[in-house]
Amino acid sequence: MKKLKSFIALDLKSNTQNITIVKKLHRHVYGFKVGYRSFYNNRSNELISEIKKSKCKLFLDLKLHDIPNTVKSAIDSLSKINPDFITLHISGGNEMMKAAVSSIKKNKLKTKILGVTLLTSLDGQDSEKIYKERNTKKLVKKFAEIAKNVNIHGLICSGDDLKVLRKFNKLIKITPGIKMFARNDDQKRVTFAHNALQDGASFVVIGRELIESKKPIDLLKKYGEQNKNKNLWTK
Ligand code: C5P
Repeated sequence: MKKLKSFIALDLKSNTQNITIVKKLHRHVYGFKVGYRSFYNNRSNELISEIKKSKCKLFLDLKLHDIPNTVKSAIDSLSKINPDFITLHISGGNEMMKAAVSSIKKNKLKTKILGVTLLTSLDGQDSEKIYKERNTKKLVKKFAEIAKNVNIHGLICSGDDLKVLRKFNKLIKITPGIKMFARNDDQKRVTFAHNALQDGASFVVIGRELIESKKPIDLLKKYGEQNKNKNLWTK
């Protein structure tokens, strides 16, 4: 069965609810994203087992950022979970990222490391204060260059930044903050899944629009019908 090139963000309040979403949607999507809310919650072991059982990909979005040795130990510890994707902040620096890569190698994991460029909650004023660079697109490109040079596998990037990152075509790009139809929540700039995938995203992350819907499968089917000739699907 073809699946939308998407990860579903499991951000519901309880992992009982998140487990229900995995059971409902696993035939339709590529993977599930476990972030702070579901990882630091009870039943996270059960949630992770359910994702593994479903044969969908597990994306552990813990956005690691610490001294190199601590990040390395974190990945050593996570090796028991063996996620398919894991995130860290590129701003943690070269040595931190190299330590992460070396832990993946040492533990013989197939986990892909994705670097967060610039949080979309930071604007030009913030980036000028922190990095002395007001142009956020320039900064995102600089972070991507750094990530490429230390051989991490990919980037987390906003729909807005995909076009400036086109030349990094060997890096996996995962884009959060994605909608299929909706426009009515708190995110100011909305990117639609078909636009992000056409602009170079390898996968998109969809959250509330699906997990809070009473009929998520109907939404996915309707979306599929509207976009059937576009290359938005994976096995
Ligand atoms: O808005 P939505 O519920 O679809 O967000 C899905 C997921 O993407 C959430 O887990 C959120 O933390 C993440 N996200 C992100 N960066 C953004 C927007 C959302 O990491 N700019």
